[in-house]
Amino acid sequence: MKQKIDFWNPELYKNKHAFVYDYGTDLIGILKPQKHERILDLGCGSGQLTATISKLVAGVVGMDKSLQMIRSAQHTYPQLDFQVGNAASFSFKQPFDAIFSNATLHWVLDYKAAIACMYQHLKPSGRLVLEFGGKDNVKAIVQQLQKSLITRGYTTQSQLNCWFFPSIGTYTSALEAQGFTVTLAHYFDRPTPLADEQTGIKDWLSMFASSFFIDVDKKDILSIQNEVQEQLKPLLLKNGTWLADYRRIRITAYK
Ligand code: BEZ
Repeated sequence: MKQKIDFWNPELYKNKHAFVYDYGTDLIGILKPQKHERILDLGCGSGQLTATISKLVAGVVGMDKSLQMIRSAQHTYPQLDFQVGNAASFSFKQPFDAIFSNATLHWVLDYKAAIACMYQHLKPSGRLVLEFGGKDNVKAIVQQLQKSLITRGYTTQSQLNCWFFPSIGTYTSALEAQGFTVTLAHYFDRPTPLADEQTGIKDWLSMFASSFFIDVDKKDILSIQNEVQEQLKPLLLKNGTWLADYRRIRITAYK
């Protein structure tokens, strides 16, 4: 199967999926950035939360694996420091007071490498403030997508494993094994309104699940997206609003 290198579409992200960073504002409240601090925003996307943090601290670096997203962030906030980097293998010369990460770590399958890298890049007593998809995140959407792929013969695509949605136990144990002290771990449902009643699930699939459609015929992509949305109506369309079945993990930990 072909690999897609960088499927992120900054415009679709900002126009229809701004909830990703809107929800993250809450997490900045947990981070409680201090004036003297230098912070890493790991998985900064198009940079909105990096910009909010920058107003509160001495320094912030926004890092993202997607060059498209980093270009968009640099274009919107030319005064800020944005860098392309992989969460499981990044490298900076100076350690940070805190690492903040919103809606990114579920994309990092090698979570132990990411945890080791975050540990290395924190000052002693430095903190992690993380939020990402937890066990059974978007389960109904994924199950229906797999079903629709299989029905049309796309078995390989249906088995794609591009997300890591751990339980609290798995993630906090790995943090502790690395040497972190975990002070908060919260697992909760967060039904997430999607922007458009007509195309909500289809837009979500285009934005976040495009890897499942590698080597799928164009006509089948459309029919799968339509079918997934149609089948999910009874479960996820509530009074004209799509509510994606997000489940989150929030974690605070200290080095
Ligand atoms: C999430 O934020 O939970 C998420 C985003 C994209 C794909 C899967 C999950």
